[in-house]
Amino acid sequence: MGSSNVHVVDHPLVQHKLSLMREKDRSTKSFREILNEIGMLLCYEVTRDLPLELVEIETPISAMQAPKIAGKKLTLAPILRAGVGFLDGMLALMPSARIAHIGLYRDPATLQAVEYYFKAPQDLSDRTVILMDPMLATGNSACAGASLLKARGARDIRFVCLLAAPEGIAQFQAEHPDVPIWTASVDERLNDHGYIVPGLGDAGDRMFGTK
Ligand code: URA
Repeated sequence: MGSSNVHVVDHPLVQHKLSLMREKDRSTKSFREILNEIGMLLCYEVTRDLPLELVEIETPISAMQAPKIAGKKLTLAPILRAGVGFLDGMLALMPSARIAHIGLYRDPATLQAVEYYFKAPQDLSDRTVILMDPMLATGNSACAGASLLKARGARDIRFVCLLAAPEGIAQFQAEHPDVPIWTASVDERLNDHGYIVPGLGDAGDRMFGTK
């Protein structure tokens, strides 16, 4: 699958909020709040094709067949730690979702993803799983996260990020061509330190105030 598997969410609200987040002087508080808001908006897009089923309900006036989301509860899978920034926004729309925590850090020398924690529902084979990390840079963490979810049986995985580098998209699509990507922007490139250009800096540090 090629770039048709990449959905750039060009909604004006998303684009405006993303520009605010890129500004280097934006406060930690504001960065975190906006990331949550964009998480909610991206959640709306990534769930657009969820199957519905008709269920009998009663309104105050009459009985009717009403559409509700079919199947098991979705699973939200943030890659720690920056992926957590999307979680509250997504949970606001899907409060009953299950959560899979994926602990991966990026080795600063090799830029490889190193696993340190993984806790997910036992069987993901019948659940839509939304894998999330704000920055798709080298693609190493996203690839490792998708592999961990597949090892638990996941067959319907969707990856959501805020920014993607072309290099990260290429790597992710090479390893996981079956996993579509939703992003607010495809930026220019990666720099020598593995940061996205123009990007927004280190998403984890900016959201948690650790720098
Ligand atoms: N992770 C970040 O937080 N920022 C980047 O630009 C790349 C990876």
